[in-house]
Amino acid sequence: MISGAASGIGAAIAERYCNEGASVALLDVNRADLSVWANELSSQGFTVAWAVADVADYSACTEACNLLVSQLGPVDTLINNAGISPKHAGKPASFWEMDPEEWRKVVGVNLNGAFNLSRILSPGMAERQFGRILNMSSVAAKVHLPLVAAHYSATKAALIGLTRHLAGELGPYGINVNAIAPGRIETPLLKTVADDINRQAVSQTALRRLGTAEEVADTACFLTSAQSNFVTGQVIDVAGGWLMS
Ligand code: NAI
Repeated sequence: MISGAASGIGAAIAERYCNEGASVALLDVNRADLSVWANELSSQGFTVAWAVADVADYSACTEACNLLVSQLGPVDTLINNAGISPKHAGKPASFWEMDPEEWRKVVGVNLNGAFNLSRILSPGMAERQFGRILNMSSVAAKVHLPLVAAHYSATKAALIGLTRHLAGELGPYGINVNAIAPGRIETPLLKTVADDINRQAVSQTALRRLGTAEEVADTACFLTSAQSNFVTGQVIDVAGGWLMS
């Protein structure tokens, strides 16, 4: 199951898992984009199911998970990918300008969303003694990045704390929990910031380019595959050597 599967990195992960032969459950708040993407994957013969939910809403997530499980069976792998990074005319809010409602919204989606889906789906994984959870953090969790706001950095750092905690608590039940910290990845999210900001990030990136959603999907696939069975509690940068930490 992939949250935020209608666009960017989540959509690329969905396609990658389809190509690996998985049955893929797509969850997103954007009904229009999600239905188009799910239909496109189905029309290529892949096994997909989709449900609309706001990851910040625990009961909506429960309903969506029940629906998806009834269609595809138990969830082995959960990708907590849905995330937002609000901008105002291409710029993040400064701390003193930040509307408390915007703070709560970002915490709700970026952090509570991962709690909600993990809380709902991990008991089933524990019963089956097998599960993989992957949280989409960011390099902004680890260094000061002026191109994002305080709520984004704080929630992405909290996801790393959640990753390590859950790796410890759920490991005895056969559940591996890891995180990816993407750098600048070319997706619709990136287009919300001014071009000069992205150009500056590229000039600071060792590989001198933006990453692709498919490159993040490759790492997601590795971190949830049998090739990384003994990897848990880890955060892997997929950032082309940007802000190495
Ligand atoms: P995107 O904006 O292309 O896709 C995000 C998806 O999440 C959208 O389909 C959106 O509808 C969905 N979504 C938003 N709020 C939701 C909610 N409340 N409930 C359910 N779904 C919701 O963004 P992108 O770039 O693909 O980002 C995916 C993840 O990767 C996010 O967590 C983001 O913070 C993270 N990330 C992205 C980076 C980048 O450079 N693109 C860099 C670092 C992290």
